[in-house]
Amino acid sequence: MHRVLKIEGKHLLNGNVRISGSKNATVALIPAAILAKTGSVTIYGVPQISDVSSLSTILQELNVKVTQKDEDHITIDPTNMTDIPLDHSAVTKLRASYYFMGALLGKYKEVKMRMPGGCYLGPRPIDLHLKGFEALGATVEYVQGFYHIYAEELIGTSIYLDIASVGATINIMMAAVYAKGRTVIENAAKEPEIIDVATMLNKMGAQIRGVGTSVITIDGVEELSGCFHEIIPDRIEAGTFIIIAAAAAENMTIENIIPQHLESLISKLKEMEVNIEVDIDKVIIKRHDNLKAVDIQTLPYPGFATDLQQPITALLTQAYGESQIKETIYAERFKHCIELQRMGADIDVNSPSSTIHGPTPLYGDEVKATDLRCGASLVVAGLLADGVTTIYDIEHIERGYENIDGKLKELGANIWKEEIED
Ligand code: EPU
Repeated sequence: MHRVLKIEGKHLLNGNVRISGSKNATVALIPAAILAKTGSVTIYGVPQISDVSSLSTILQELNVKVTQKDEDHITIDPTNMTDIPLDHSAVTKLRASYYFMGALLGKYKEVKMRMPGGCYLGPRPIDLHLKGFEALGATVEYVQGFYHIYAEELIGTSIYLDIASVGATINIMMAAVYAKGRTVIENAAKEPEIIDVATMLNKMGAQIRGVGTSVITIDGVEELSGCFHEIIPDRIEAGTFIIIAAAAAENMTIENIIPQHLESLISKLKEMEVNIEVDIDKVIIKRHDNLKAVDIQTLPYPGFATDLQQPITALLTQAYGESQIKETIYAERFKHCIELQRMGADIDVNSPSSTIHGPTPLYGDEVKATDLRCGASLVVAGLLADGVTTIYDIEHIERGYENIDGKLKELGANIWKEEIED
């Protein structure tokens, strides 16, 4: 049996959709919470996605108490935690399990864990994370699929990242909060999720400054304790719904967002002549036909997010003219194009670029969510297509989008999950 997502396209969407807490912040905040030596950490706005379930499983392996009193908040109590090797299969389900490296190394000066998993987007090395740990004084060994990272003590130092990596910046920050003295990360990534993690760590007692710029300074402290923290809204979920609205809405409001986090997307959509109105914490999109083709280059924040490159490709199939996309973060992030072609899209892929010729009508077909944002791209396409689209491998979508079918149904989409025979 397979669980699939089915969408009957061509229904105009109307109404409001509320954006959940950021997935990519949450998956770092949960491991960061274990750095508390006293008290517990309560995080509000936790999205109900399977990546969060996988992280909770890992926490339970470490004997960390996780309680979920209300729908969207969890309390993490690491009082009785034990630093055991992490070989649970949950580690290989998501890439963000690598944040346990920084957190456990920071707290216990030792971590043993399996290789992290996650979406296949071409090679995704973690050499910069490991170099950062080594610079702090750790030894890194990799034997038969297991990392063993350990140190007598961690000592603050200056670390220059060859690439402004989100994961490496957060991981090094977590390892450095208990290091002796000052750590300086240069060419640090500036993504809003990094600011969110540093904000929570500072509430816990850390001394992190400069987040949101390319130089982050961490002064080591003796003890972090519990706190309350509310996660920022998910700018990628917001961007996905904004693209959905541009594709299929009559009149739709996307609320609980921080529009500044979406400036590069919003300016591209304005260039396409999408009818978009920006308010303090929401955007309103009204139907506009005859969208124009645009060129896009993905870049680290505040540039155009690679995570929105796949969803916007589906929208660009409806724009008049030729759109060029250049992917500078993940050269092979084009699997969605093959699926979109099955539905009638006219796209030439020449990695790391693609050219979309539009407009072309799309037709419902059987397609595969090869990764999370490919899944989002296929949802956009399904809403635009004639007939019924069947999306396979929806566990990738469920890793990162909370209740996407429910939210779309509320807006008037004809979308449902179904169990089908192999
Ligand atoms: N890189 C290295 N070495 C490293 C780390 C990264 O060469 O040690 C390279 C990567 O291969 C990539 C570039 O540096 O070419 C940037 O990677 P980064 O480390 O910034 O990405 P990440 O931390 O692994 C996060 C998000 C991704 C998002 C990227 C880019 C999480 C859990 N994941 O990944 O989100 O695409 O930043 O913004 O925060 C998604 O949500 O669908 C997703 C894949």
